[in-house]
Amino acid sequence: MTNSSPLPPKTPDHPNVDASGTRQIRIFDTTLRDGEQSPGGSMNLSEKLKVAQALADLGVDVMEAGFPIASPGDFEAVREISATIRGPIICGLARCNDGDIDRAWEALQKAQNARIHVFLATSAIHREFKLRMTQDEIIARAVRGVERAVALCDDVEFSAEDAARTEIDFLCRVVEAAIRAGATTINVPDTVGYTTPGEMYARFEALRNRVPNIDKAILSCHCHDDLGMAVANSLAAVQAGANQIECTINGIGERAGNCSLEEVVMALRTRHDLFNTKTNIVTERLVPISRLLCKITGLDIQRNKAVVGRNAFAHESGIHQDGMLKDRSTYEIMRPEDVGFSKTDLVLGKHSGRAALADRARELGYQLTGEQLQTVFDQFKILADKKKEIYDGDIVALIQQQISGPSQRVWSLASFEVASGTDRIPSVQLTLQHGDEQFTERVEQGDGPIDAAFWAVEKITGVKVVCKDFRVRSATIGRDALGEVTIEVEHEGQSYRGMGTSTDSVESTILDMLNAVNRIITEKSIRSQTRVTPQDM
Ligand code: KIV
Ligand code: ZN
Repeated sequence: MTNSSPLPPKTPDHPNVDASGTRQIRIFDTTLRDGEQSPGGSMNLSEKLKVAQALADLGVDVMEAGFPIASPGDFEAVREISATIRGPIICGLARCNDGDIDRAWEALQKAQNARIHVFLATSAIHREFKLRMTQDEIIARAVRGVERAVALCDDVEFSAEDAARTEIDFLCRVVEAAIRAGATTINVPDTVGYTTPGEMYARFEALRNRVPNIDKAILSCHCHDDLGMAVANSLAAVQAGANQIECTINGIGERAGNCSLEEVVMALRTRHDLFNTKTNIVTERLVPISRLLCKITGLDIQRNKAVVGRNAFAHESGIHQDGMLKDRSTYEIMRPEDVGFSKTDLVLGKHSGRAALADRARELGYQLTGEQLQTVFDQFKILADKKKEIYDGDIVALIQQQISGPSQRVWSLASFEVASGTDRIPSVQLTLQHGDEQFTERVEQGDGPIDAAFWAVEKITGVKVVCKDFRVRSATIGRDALGEVTIEVEHEGQSYRGMGTSTDSVESTILDMLNAVNRIITEKSIRSQTRVTPQDM
């Protein structure tokens, strides 16, 4: 982190600064665009809509919903999010060419507030090897792109891709030209995660000092995490005058990912003394949205992940525990409840009613519809019969199973019986429900009951898969805890994820597998209705 003091806003009545001198930082979330480019992070339309609603509830200022020209799926996602999500500005990405820009605008038609985000690489490496264009040609194309977008939409962001590795004189020229052409936000990406906080500070300082019209646009940073410095670099940019941070939930994104939203937001808040900034983020929603994204994408976070990791507030050493008992501030710089970890943990039991469950769900950051509440409540009652004490983690697991599952449940579990042991072939008798009909198969094969369960599901549903990843973990504590199983399977060259939760690990596996099978069937039927034409990127 740089030691330089923050540059003051250029005018005392700067619109982003309140009477007490605190600067408002815009949070631009790109989980659904750059984040979705994470290997294994792709989401279907209904999943994107769930994440988009959670992002709106979180209070992001701008939501980049996708890259509409990239695929019909991306176009559809931007269109649906524009039509349904209210609050944040909805943004669509486009390269600096007419086709991309027009397609982005078409997808954004129903947005309450729309933004077109145009980008063009500016660094010598990209100019020479990727684009084969001169500096003057780059400026001309950037200006044309911004002008075309401005003719359609009054909120236009321009990104100089690989800005962190662009010659500073040239970057100043491009930025000045893009603002003159009408860009209202200028984004400075560290596309390959190469820069350092000191360099980032200097780059923003140079832009602010050398670009004559810089005050006509909001300055934004967009950092990748290849060297683990995306958050630090974003904070340095803020200190040097950036008023918008581009980031993703859990830091998901290309390669090592993007700047993590929860980390950068909590750094600004916790170190208000240093940054003197504020954001619109409802921080109590950080843990719920982090968990939701893990469930939907299957991309787990490490236990010690800052802010939202399961161990982020766990104190193991006796000295720390002793200090905490005397005064929390000895070892705690943030309160767990401020980021959405619950204060109490042991909550409900067999006799708790629906209203208590709804209350607890609300406190945990979930607004359930009547139908969702009823399903979660039914599952809760079944669980309460098996397990005396129901913890927050159990409730979250039940809710997330409900809200992150595929929208259509083609196959569901009716019943199963399993037998296994040393020196015997495992066997499973499985009955699945399909519409009004039930189908039963008995399978005696596999190297254990879980493998046998896989075979049985395949046999009944007829959907053949190759298992790529299989993980089991407990949602809470104790031997009777709910077990969460996540799998990644491959079917006809495509990857699908599933998630299942039960106190019985074989049952979790069957639910998980059905979850994936239902996704495969639903997605295949959607794909057969919309022909996908791959675009030349
Ligand atoms: O990393 C990058 O440069 C980008 C741009 C498209 C903003 O994601
Ligand atoms: Zn990026």
